[in-house]
Order: sequence, then structure tokens, then C-alpha cells
Amino acid sequence: MRSKKKSILSLDKFIIKSLYEKNTGYYMSKNPFGKKGDFITSPNISILFSEMLAIWVISFWKNLNEPKKLNIIEMGAGNGEMINIISKTFEKFPIINSVCKIYILEKSPYLKKIQKEKLKHKKIYWINNLNKIKNGPNIFLANEFLDALPIKQFFKKNESWLERKVKFEGIYPKNFYNIKSNIKRIEKKIGYEISKNQDFIEISEDAVKYIEVISNKINRFGGGLLIIDYGYKEKKMKNTLRGIQNHKIVNILSNYKKCDITYSLAFDFLKEIGKKFNLKVAGITTQRNFLKSLGIMERAEIISKNLSFTKKANIYYRINKLIDKKFMGEIFKVMLLTNNKTKFNIGFKSD
Ligand SMILES: C[S@@+](CC[C@H](N)C(=O)[O-])C[C@H]1O[C@@H](n2cnc3c(N)ncnc32)[C@H](O)[C@@H]1O
Repeated sequence: MRSKKKSILSLDKFIIKSLYEKNTGYYMSKNPFGKKGDFITSPNISILFSEMLAIWVISFWKNLNEPKKLNIIEMGAGNGEMINIISKTFEKFPIINSVCKIYILEKSPYLKKIQKEKLKHKKIYWINNLNKIKNGPNIFLANEFLDALPIKQFFKKNESWLERKVKFEGIYPKNFYNIKSNIKRIEKKIGYEISKNQDFIEISEDAVKYIEVISNKINRFGGGLLIIDYGYKEKKMKNTLRGIQNHKIVNILSNYKKCDITYSLAFDFLKEIGKKFNLKVAGITTQRNFLKSLGIMERAEIISKNLSFTKKANIYYRINKLIDKKFMGEIFKVMLLTNNKTKFNIGFKSD
């Protein structure tokens, strides 16, 4: 009997294969969003989330002295729900509606199709590369985007660094496999001494590249990058890699191509990368503080005034999911990166 061919893939390549392999990858063949899907994102829990973002964008535009042109770029738009509600909210503010141009950067052709169907009556531009945007100011919105990018992991053992890889037998992943690694080479590539004071590293090289491209645009034309995601503020990095299927954590090897693969952002690392590219943290807070300081409770009161008890309860039940400390309120953080000249901290004031 012939033995199965063995091969080894780096963790980030494994994640790309699992999520984006043509026709069979997780994001290439199914719509994972919602109660019946594998996970649910804030815009799909309550429209008030995206309404608050729309209000925040308008405040930022005002702070930029109401420029005649403004680009809004959603990074990874999922099923298109967030930008759908943002652009609907803009319709109530004709000035902003006439100055802003909305872009979506989306990798999955399958999700792009779903977005195009949902947004068919809106004027939206799809792009595959951020360099298609040649002017500004630009506001980049990244809700659960960076956590969908592939990562690498490294462990320190007896003063040397090992990289975690995945061993395949035939076409299936078998087990994790650690290989001695030259961490200095990685540090040279990203231009940051990531191993300092760490004994474990979890890093997305793609996230670093995106922040570099975005920082060039923000430094040149103004604007900002708003990151909303699972994550922690501590300097010490943690192993947070996980598979998500049917709203539960699952093994990423045995559920190859059948689960989402995600991780929690190390916000301190993102801050340092932002600094390296001349961006500053204009604000960092929890999702709870951000949405509350933008007035989510007041908005809920207005829209639920004449509703039945059941409908009212539903609105508050959904808001609770977004802001309660037990759900997404604290584990989700919001961070705004801007250039050094910009002074804007709406949504971050209470911290
Ligand atoms: C977890 S979903 C979040 C969707 C949406 N922002 C929301 O909040 O509902 C991640 C999205 O990012 C997209 N994505 C992942 N990597 C990408 C990349 N490198 N470039 C563009 N889109 C990407 C995925 O296809 C998906 O649409």
C-alpha cells in the first residue's frame, strides 16, 4: 500500500487554504452570518450598531471641516449589512450623502455576490486593492476584519523560538508541528522587535501590511482607521487562535474548511505598528463605552416609543448583546488610529 504524501504548511498558509481555497474554502462556499450560520457580527445583531457608526462618521467629517469629498471604506463587508444601514442613515443627512463615496474591500467572490445583491440600489464601489483609492480624506471601517486575517504563531523554548506549522497527510491536516525559526528575520520583515519581553507571539503579517498602506493614505489625505474587534490591551501576547462553528469553539484541524478561523487582536501590538507608521491612537475603549457615548440608549428610547412591549423588549435585548459586559460589551474593543494632526475623540471621551 502506498503511504499518503506528507507536507507541511505554515499556519498562515493553512488558514488561507482553509478559509479561501477556490470553491471549497470556508468563505468561498457559504454564508456564515446569523443565527442559523456559524457566528453573528454586531451589525447583524442590531441596526443601531451601524446607525451609531454612521453618526460617528458624520461627526468625524464635521471635525475634518466638512470636506467636499470623503471616502468611506469598509474592510471586509461580510453580508453587507453594516454598510447597508450606514448608507441608509446617510440618506437622512443629504450633505454627507452627496460628499461621500463608499468603497468595499472584499476578498471572497462568494460574499461579494451577496453584498452586490443586498446593495444593488446603492452607489458603492468594490475594490480588490486599497491603492485604487487615490484621494481623500479616508475613513476606514474595520469591524471584525483584522481577526479574519491569517496569523503565524511562535513559542519560546529553551531560549530559542519555534514556529507552529501544520502537517498534512494527503489532502487533510493531521497535527501541529513546531519548527525552529529565525525570529529576527520576521522582525526585519515587519520592522518591529516583536519578541521583546514575549515568550509567545501571535501575529498577522497581512494586518501589518494593511496598516502600512492605510497609514500612507491617512498621513497624506487625513482621516482614520476605526478597528472594532475581539481583543485585549495587555502587552503580553496570548494564544487565542480558535475555530468557530455553530456559535461554538471547535478544533481548526478536524474542522478543516468547515469552520471560521479567528483570533483576538493584541491592541498594544497594533498601537506600536501604528506608531511605526506615524499614526497615533486617537482613542481606545470598549464597545460598550463607544456605543453608549454615541447615544445608543437614547436612540433606542426614541425608536421604541410607540412600539408594543414585545418589539421594545427585542430592541433592548439586542442592544444588551452589544454592550453587556457578559457578551460583546467588554471583550470587543474599539480603537481609532489617525495622523498626528487630527484631534478627534468622539466615542472615546469617557475613557
Ligand atoms: C468576520 S467577517 C466581518 C464582516 C463584517 N465586517 C461584519 O461586521 O459583519 C470578515 C470579512 O472580511 C473579509 N476578508 C477577510 N480577509 C480579507 C482580505 N484580505 N481582504 C478583503 N476582505 C477580507 C471576509 O471575506 C469577510 O467578508
